[in-house]
Amino acid sequence: MNTSSQLCKLINVDLGERSYDIHIGRGLLQEAGKLISNLAPKARCVVVSDENVLKAHGETLGESLTQAGIEFSTLAVPAGEKSKSMEMLNSVVEGLLDAKMERGDLVIAFGGGVVGDLAGFAAAVTRRGMDFIQIPTSLLAQVDSSVGGKTGINSPHGKNLIGAFHQPLMVIADTDVLKTLSDREFKAGYAEIAKYGLINRPDFFDWLEKNRDGIFSNGAALIEAVATSCQCKADVVKEDEKENGIRALLNLGHTFGHALEGATQYDSARLVHGEGVAIGMVLAHQFSNRMNLCDMDTVNRVEAHLKACGLPTHPNEIPGQLPPAEKLLDFIAQDKKVSRGKLNFILTKGLGQSYIANDVPSSEVLSFLKETLET
Ligand SMILES: NC(=O)c1ccc[n+]([C@@H]2O[C@H](COP(=O)([O-])OP(=O)(O)OC[C@H]3O[C@@H](n4cnc5c(N)ncnc54)[C@H](O)[C@@H]3O)[C@@H](O)[C@H]2O)c1
Ligand SMILES: [Zn+2]
Repeated sequence: MNTSSQLCKLINVDLGERSYDIHIGRGLLQEAGKLISNLAPKARCVVVSDENVLKAHGETLGESLTQAGIEFSTLAVPAGEKSKSMEMLNSVVEGLLDAKMERGDLVIAFGGGVVGDLAGFAAAVTRRGMDFIQIPTSLLAQVDSSVGGKTGINSPHGKNLIGAFHQPLMVIADTDVLKTLSDREFKAGYAEIAKYGLINRPDFFDWLEKNRDGIFSNGAALIEAVATSCQCKADVVKEDEKENGIRALLNLGHTFGHALEGATQYDSARLVHGEGVAIGMVLAHQFSNRMNLCDMDTVNRVEAHLKACGLPTHPNEIPGQLPPAEKLLDFIAQDKKVSRGKLNFILTKGLGQSYIANDVPSSEVLSFLKETLET
């Protein structure tokens, strides 16, 4: 590909007629117009984004679209999880209709996971399904949420309960845009990168341990880390697009993590998703050790790496009071299918040897949580 980026990676998500490419590299935002006009030469576009992303990178994207002769307009939503709401969905859908978008035109989701999930879902339901493109701008969105086609919003009943599987036509991940992301959000996104190593790629986890500095300084290693993460996700999604089986492995660390997010009322001042996942992954390894599945050296190694990356690894690092273990277990049980006191969990038999366990006794989880909260 003829781009100004020094290094550009291309990953294909192989889903038959819904297959698409993920472009990863530096300076790709400047190339977005060209990439889009090659894919959909006559399409008009609506860019859906949030205020922070537009302020930092809106002009670059706008210039690139204009240079490629693409007609576009912009819809801005407030930054933050609250925008994944029915009200905001309505406002985006009406905005798309106001812009006289037709089937064959394109929605561009330009932002973090919030914008990607919201704009992707708006595309899925407007005119019974419009094409859309993901231009993820947070690390979490580049390595996780922009790939795989899960779109949706939150309900008062819980997170992501209203949504659709709707695959994008293309993903453009420019690692340069991550330079304006806060340190905290960058680290949180990194937790999802480490997750892929811990699921089934111990070689990748080794590599991450050795390349931490290059990744955190936005060097070439970051592009490699994003590309490998996208490949890992693409491999899982290809096997199990609608999460009937192995896609659940992507939830490693998320059962404990979601419980902690629920327990802190999704207050991002206390805990952001990736931080919950980091703590959750350590807890999943510790719990696996308690169940005699995973050795203590592995547990210590995982914890040491996440700590070295500046991520929290224990619930007591979350500011403010946490509810008791019983309440955390309630959050877990709400999230998971429970039958006769057994829970579904992603556990591990060692580094990069995760598996889906359907028969975890809730009494064991409760004792483990009690011990954890006491230490
Ligand atoms: N669809 C999926 O498969 C999937 C997977 C994982 C997470 N998610 C969803 O993703 C969401 C979390 O995504 P997130 O962590 O990206 O949150 P986010 O979209 O709220 O972005 C985090 C913050 O960073 C800002 N930001 C984003 N890019 C920036 C940039 N380049 N420069 C400066 N600021 C920037 C945003 O404005 C926001 O304030 C959650 O709603 C979660 O449910 C979805
Ligand atoms: Zn996650």
